[in-house]
Amino acid sequence: MLSWRKKRGRRKQGDAEHWLKEREYWSQRMESWYRDKYSLELDSIQDDPGQVPSLELITEIQRKGKAEPNTFLASGQRTVLEYLEELNDHGYDPRDFERILDFGVGLGRLLRHYFPFPAELHGCDVTEKVVNYSQGIYGQRARIEQSRLTPPLPYEDQYFDYIYANSVFTHIQHDLLPDWIAELARVARPGACVIVTVYGTNRYLGHVPEREFDQRIRQQGYLEWGTGHVKQNCLYATPGKLREWWGSHFEVLEYRPQFKDQDHLVMRRS
Ligand SMILES: C[S@@+](CC[C@H](N)C(=O)[O-])C[C@H]1O[C@@H](n2cnc3c(N)ncnc32)[C@H](O)[C@@H]1O
Repeated sequence: MLSWRKKRGRRKQGDAEHWLKEREYWSQRMESWYRDKYSLELDSIQDDPGQVPSLELITEIQRKGKAEPNTFLASGQRTVLEYLEELNDHGYDPRDFERILDFGVGLGRLLRHYFPFPAELHGCDVTEKVVNYSQGIYGQRARIEQSRLTPPLPYEDQYFDYIYANSVFTHIQHDLLPDWIAELARVARPGACVIVTVYGTNRYLGHVPEREFDQRIRQQGYLEWGTGHVKQNCLYATPGKLREWWGSHFEVLEYRPQFKDQDHLVMRRS
């Protein structure tokens, strides 16, 4: 029988191979998508394992696993392709955008994949350490701002054509949500596309008994758990509740479930 250490060693090796294959696959997919859809070439930072943050920084905001360079790059490539497909399906061409905002930019895992587009790129985040890192590595090519746990954001009204927030509204406290939805609506121009990720039930609420989900969550429409700290606070809402909340300022174009990732709420600023 394999010892625990050997098993762990094999799993780590298996994970490393898995993520190398994922990166090979997704960088190819990404290259073809940019070439075929936009006639654009990728930027070298989109697939450079030398320009990936340290383990210490990654664990500040994400699971340890993402610190492996192939994981950081492949998961970013795969996720950005999800967004680009949604933009495409709803008639948006990212080459037409003048300004893009990555709300909760973190370490720029996604922002770096927008470098080939002509838009002015912006990112903001509440965590000082990640803002410092992102300013350092992307500072010449994107404007990264320190933002706060409550609005306002440091932008003019109707400033952005496209705003996305990946794994951010899953952590924002329920009582702050109406103000944040109104704030994103303020900085989005009419017609802008806004995409935010949300928790799907099967992947993220597996720990909740079925009867409790029905009695407590479905009836209330949402569930909040965790400590209230940005990293640990979690907010789930039913698709109906999400439409009610976001529908106050946006036309909800689609609730798109994702494979193994958080689901997406795709919206247009009314
Ligand atoms: C799980 S990380 C995701 C980072 C990045 N979007 C990605 O997908 O790699 C969540 C990020 O959202 C930031 N965040 C949480 N609440 C925020 C808020 N109210 N305003 C801006 N950033 C926030 C955190 O500091 C953290 O960097």
